[in-house]
Amino acid sequence: MSKEPRASFGGKLSVILVAAGSAIGLGALWRFPYIAGKHGGAAFLLVFLLSVLVVGIPAMIAEFAVGRRTNKNAVGAFRSLSTRWSWLGYSGVLGALLISGYYYLIAGWSLEYFVNSITGSIFNSDLSFKEQFALFQGSWRPLIYGVLFILMTHFIVSRGVEKGIEKAAKIMMPALFVILIVMAVRVAFMPGATEGYKFFFSCDFAEAFKADTIMMAIGQAFFSLSVGMGCMVTYASYFKKDNNMVSTSLNVSLLTLVVSVLAGLVIFPAVFSAGLEPTEGPSLVFVTLPEIFKGMPLPSLWSAIFFLLVILASLTSTISFHEVLTAYAAEEFKLSRKSGALVTTVVSIALSAVTFFGLFGVDFFTIFDNITANVLMPLGAMFTCIFVMWFMKKGFMREEITNNGQCNNRVVATLLFMLRFITPLLIFYIFIKNFL
Ligand code: PFF
Repeated sequence: MSKEPRASFGGKLSVILVAAGSAIGLGALWRFPYIAGKHGGAAFLLVFLLSVLVVGIPAMIAEFAVGRRTNKNAVGAFRSLSTRWSWLGYSGVLGALLISGYYYLIAGWSLEYFVNSITGSIFNSDLSFKEQFALFQGSWRPLIYGVLFILMTHFIVSRGVEKGIEKAAKIMMPALFVILIVMAVRVAFMPGATEGYKFFFSCDFAEAFKADTIMMAIGQAFFSLSVGMGCMVTYASYFKKDNNMVSTSLNVSLLTLVVSVLAGLVIFPAVFSAGLEPTEGPSLVFVTLPEIFKGMPLPSLWSAIFFLLVILASLTSTISFHEVLTAYAAEEFKLSRKSGALVTTVVSIALSAVTFFGLFGVDFFTIFDNITANVLMPLGAMFTCIFVMWFMKKGFMREEITNNGQCNNRVVATLLFMLRFITPLLIFYIFIKNFL
């Protein structure tokens, strides 16, 4: 173990902001709208909401319990509870590595778009936004901006848990909410916006309850809540012992849901107002939205504000999976925090380069995204629930949820029942159904 004393987050609000910072990111702003667009708008929203309630929140609480009880990094935490379960910590570290392989690159796209909005070059070019995007993808710039994003993350993480991670969340999260609300209001006044609301809030139940839609929704719930890969274990290792984990997880989930819906409320009305397709896919935010900003007065300003929002949201998320790896490297290999962060940064740059160059032959983006969201995270969350309920000593979860009887939570019995049976069984069922 490194000699530095272990840090902890300040008050209740800090804990919520930091965890919500991890949760709210490209998942809510970029992944959610295009998946919802493809899977029937509000229909998807409904299944997503259920997934958050039935699997996301219980799994998050289970992870909190493991982290707070042990005060260790993901691997150390599982190992110190049971050596036979340390693999669950390693699966988290693997997940964090895979996510590092593509998340920084996409976050970097928003950096490029932010810069080009400020200079006005995206709106002055003769090329269409689709062509500009393709040209950008064919150049070195995605890698350069991706590396820049890794360095920004490194800068914050290496400043430490309190002065880096907590402070960043306290500044960036409120800014993010303000920007998102301003954007949603601005978009509401665009002509044709009602079509977008109609699309977003129309329900197609047949689509919603297809096995693969449910799987997508569960995958999205895990991805969006950062659950199933040791991230919440690591963050909870910095929680104070009197933190009410049930209320923290409810607050974090609620904020994530609100931001996902707000992102839909910005994107869909805007898309329809510009007469574009809502099912554009991953490039929705980068090709479709500039088209819309172009039709507004002061396009560069709105576009810069929007991409700043994406940058802030992504940064509080990249910090969190960087921290999973930094804490692991520092504590397991007895390095200083700074060296742990440095190793993580170097590995992240290498992985991003692999994805970037692999793009020509192998689509690492899709592979890494699918493996993390649809395999590692659901299985990680399922086994965490099984571990804490069936393999830890009786009463472990009850003690953790109630803070040893200090806080009387009315939902304890329901939550324990869900954790023991419903959550793992449901994940298992959907997982098997989707792969058979
Ligand atoms: N929750 C983040 C997002 O929605 O963008 C992504 C993420 C962060 C996933 C951290 C997993 C994680 F450990």
